[in-house]
Amino acid sequence: MAVVKLAIFLCFALSFARSTSRKWIEKDVCIIGGGASGTYAAVRLQQMGVDVALIEKEAKLGGPVTTYTEPSTGQTYDYGVQVFSNLSVVHNFFSHFEIPLVRLPPPSGGNTTMVDFETGEVIEPSKLYMGNLTAAMLGYAEQEAKYSSIFEDWNLPNPVPEDLLMPFGDFLRKHSLEAFAYIAFIYDQGIANILAQPTLYVMKYQDQVQMRDLLTGSFVVNALQNNQLLYDRAAAEFGKKLYLSSYPTQVTRKHHHVEVEVSTPEGTKHIRARKLLVTVPPKTTSQFLDLDENESTMFRQFNNSYYWNAILKNTGIPIGTTLSNVNPAAPLNIPAMPAPYIFFAAPVPGLHATYYSSPHNMSDDEIAADILKTLARVREGAGFPDPDQSPEIVALHKWSPFEMTVSPDAIRNAFYNDLMALQGKKNTWWTGATWMNQATATLWRYTEDKVLPHLVPDEELLKVQY
Ligand SMILES: Cc1cc2nc3c(=O)[nH]c(=O)nc-3n(C[C@H](O)[C@H](O)[C@H](O)COP(=O)(O)OP(=O)(O)OC[C@H]3O[C@@H](n4cnc5c(N)ncnc54)[C@H](O)[C@@H]3O)c2cc1C
Ligand SMILES: *[C@@H]1O[C@H](CO)[C@@H](O)[C@H](O)[C@H]1NC(C)=O
Ligand SMILES: *[C@@H]1O[C@H](CO)[C@@H](O)[C@H](O)[C@H]1NC(C)=O
Ligand SMILES: *[C@@H]1O[C@H](CO)[C@@H](O)[C@H](O)[C@H]1NC(C)=O
Ligand SMILES: *[C@@H]1O[C@H](CO)[C@@H](O)[C@H](O)[C@H]1NC(C)=O
Ligand SMILES: *[C@@H]1O[C@H](CO)[C@@H](O)[C@H](O)[C@H]1NC(C)=O
Ligand SMILES: *[C@@H]1O[C@H](CO)[C@@H](O)[C@H](O)[C@H]1NC(C)=O
Repeated sequence: MAVVKLAIFLCFALSFARSTSRKWIEKDVCIIGGGASGTYAAVRLQQMGVDVALIEKEAKLGGPVTTYTEPSTGQTYDYGVQVFSNLSVVHNFFSHFEIPLVRLPPPSGGNTTMVDFETGEVIEPSKLYMGNLTAAMLGYAEQEAKYSSIFEDWNLPNPVPEDLLMPFGDFLRKHSLEAFAYIAFIYDQGIANILAQPTLYVMKYQDQVQMRDLLTGSFVVNALQNNQLLYDRAAAEFGKKLYLSSYPTQVTRKHHHVEVEVSTPEGTKHIRARKLLVTVPPKTTSQFLDLDENESTMFRQFNNSYYWNAILKNTGIPIGTTLSNVNPAAPLNIPAMPAPYIFFAAPVPGLHATYYSSPHNMSDDEIAADILKTLARVREGAGFPDPDQSPEIVALHKWSPFEMTVSPDAIRNAFYNDLMALQGKKNTWWTGATWMNQATATLWRYTEDKVLPHLVPDEELLKVQY
């Protein structure tokens, strides 16, 4: 009995000691996830004098920004996030970090050959679906424009237009826009079988801003081909406010503040913030966030695709030659996923970048094996000699969960209106690809215009410029 009492006493004493010694790090805003949206929000809030903490689980900021550095020459190449829309937020953000932007050069990738990656056969353009591409792009942009106000803040009308709910392949056929299919497949990568996705999700991705930049050739790219530099300079600006290689283990939302327990390389930290900004996919928050019934029921409905990018050496594909995957026998010539989209001739001689998507989970080993098998097939089909050294996957990254989707029925039943209604509940704000779209530029603009105004104590601060 005495032993039990002593044990109870010790437990009390210990927990008392723990709670009194707990040092709270007080913040205005705690941001979870230091990719495109989280880094942008943190930089801007800091500029406005708002005290932030930024928590990122990787050892670097930037999310899917992957910059390759050629060891022998130091030449860099962005094989992850590369192009940006020509929006003022993009110019402001880059110029703050003194990184020049240039117009995206005309289609690079050298000489592009269409190949059926399933058989390795080189496909003559005459065997492919032909149509008037310009007319199809203009036609798609015209359809998209009908719904543009929806995509500004996901305020879907009731009833949701049936065109947005039908599979994208059916939508293209209905409006005789079939010639747009291949461009959409190549531009809107990572969403697995694009023709089967509800049109809403293709329009979310391939939105008006993207269409404008595509039609007018006004995308911009980092002149240094080093997008990691942007995020590394942001990291340098934060100093101790940045928690890299860190993740929240428990977030408790109280009436007037949120309490965030963070695992960091220096041990557990406790942050108490007035407001929480979550930029990671909502469906992954069940691991740490005190979700209520309403939130969990909604987040559980998300399905998602999987996306990989990789950089390859000794492919046996001639330098400067890009191979693009096409299937002449498939509907609208769009290859079925899982598969690689392309072997892209990188500007660094001898390197090819590849991108891969799957509707279901696969391991990196399976992806690597399929990439190498596909390479062998296309080399044989195109009659390229085997390389002197074995092909090598220099780097492979998995981005999952990638595109977040819910069923057409859920969309019909006002899923997005309910989702958007979560903004600001329980001192919690949300941004990121699940909420707006995949494009970095649009995410920055959404964060700037629709989210930051709620995170600053005084609207006057919003006028603070870069
Ligand atoms: C290969 C590839 C190429 C792309 N190319 C382009 C392009 O050229 N142009 C373009 O505009 N967009 C591109 N994108 C789209 C890109 O996804 C978006 O631009 C953008 O990164 C999404 O921003 P986000 O803030 O929603 O998420 P992310 O940028 O993914 O940021 C989320 C961050 O949260 C971190 N994180 C996740 N979970 C936790 C946790 N529990 N705790 C702490 N941190 C966590 C992640 O590590 C990540 O850094 C590309 C994407 C990929 C994958
Ligand atoms: C383009 O690549 C194909 C396949 O590698 C090759 O047959 C063709 O000669 C190349 N064309 C040019 C202009 O380099
Ligand atoms: C393709 O469509 C565009 C835009 O509608 C039109 O101007 C052009 O003449 C068409 N080209 C052909 C070959 O029909
Ligand atoms: C970007 O937009 C501005 C106007 O907003 C324009 O002056 C500029 O030429 C555009 N840049 C590109 C690369 O199209
Ligand atoms: C969540 O709450 C909203 C109202 O804020 C309601 O319309 C919706 O049906 C709820 N969703 C679920 C799944 O409980
Ligand atoms: C998610 O999508 C995959 C691929 O389309 C499908 O097989 C699976 O049934 C979906 N899961 C849910 C929960 O909808
Ligand atoms: C996906 O598969 C990998 C490897 O097979 C596994 O480690 C991971 O947990 C899986 N992810 C999900 C979301 O199921």
